[in-house]
Amino acid sequence: MTRIILIGYMGAGKTTLGKALAREMKVQFCDLDWFIEERYHRTIQQIFDEKGEAGFRDIERKMLYEVAEFEDIIISCGGGTPCFFDNIEFMNSKAQTVYLKATPEILFQHLKMGKNERPLLKNKTDEELMQFITESLAAREPYYSKADYIFDITLLNSIDRIKDSVRLIQELLNKKAE
Ligand code: S3P
Repeated sequence: MTRIILIGYMGAGKTTLGKALAREMKVQFCDLDWFIEERYHRTIQQIFDEKGEAGFRDIERKMLYEVAEFEDIIISCGGGTPCFFDNIEFMNSKAQTVYLKATPEILFQHLKMGKNERPLLKNKTDEELMQFITESLAAREPYYSKADYIFDITLLNSIDRIKDSVRLIQELLNKKAE
């Protein structure tokens, strides 16, 4: 049975790579943020607005416990999911966890355009965004690095980044299983 959880900072490519990995491994894909939005009939932004971050984290944990029961699945979770409660320990007990690791500079490039869709990044200037990413990534790193596998996305510069990443993640998973 396959159950893989992708973790990492916003903009690391969890959803993009998760979808591609699921297609390649012929299993289902689940994005925790989308799952929450569907269940609560609200966008993540609306949940933050109505219940604050603490309210969102409670919902996120509850929904994590549900999706972690799915079988033959690749789950991508939110950037903050592993960093609250004992979520990372829980994830490690239920699935193979993969940390998609990137530098603040790369994350900044990925997040600059879509920042206003993310409640934690909204309305920040470029300078504030870079500072926020650098500081919060450092604070989250101890949680992320508890993952079973660490996959450095900055190593990949080729045109076929997604395809290469999928192949390399599969190699990583197989290596440890041997
Ligand atoms: C968050 C990341 C978001 C979403 C929410 C909070 C975070 O998910 O869960 O806005 O705390 O890093 P993505 O990492 O998919 O953007």
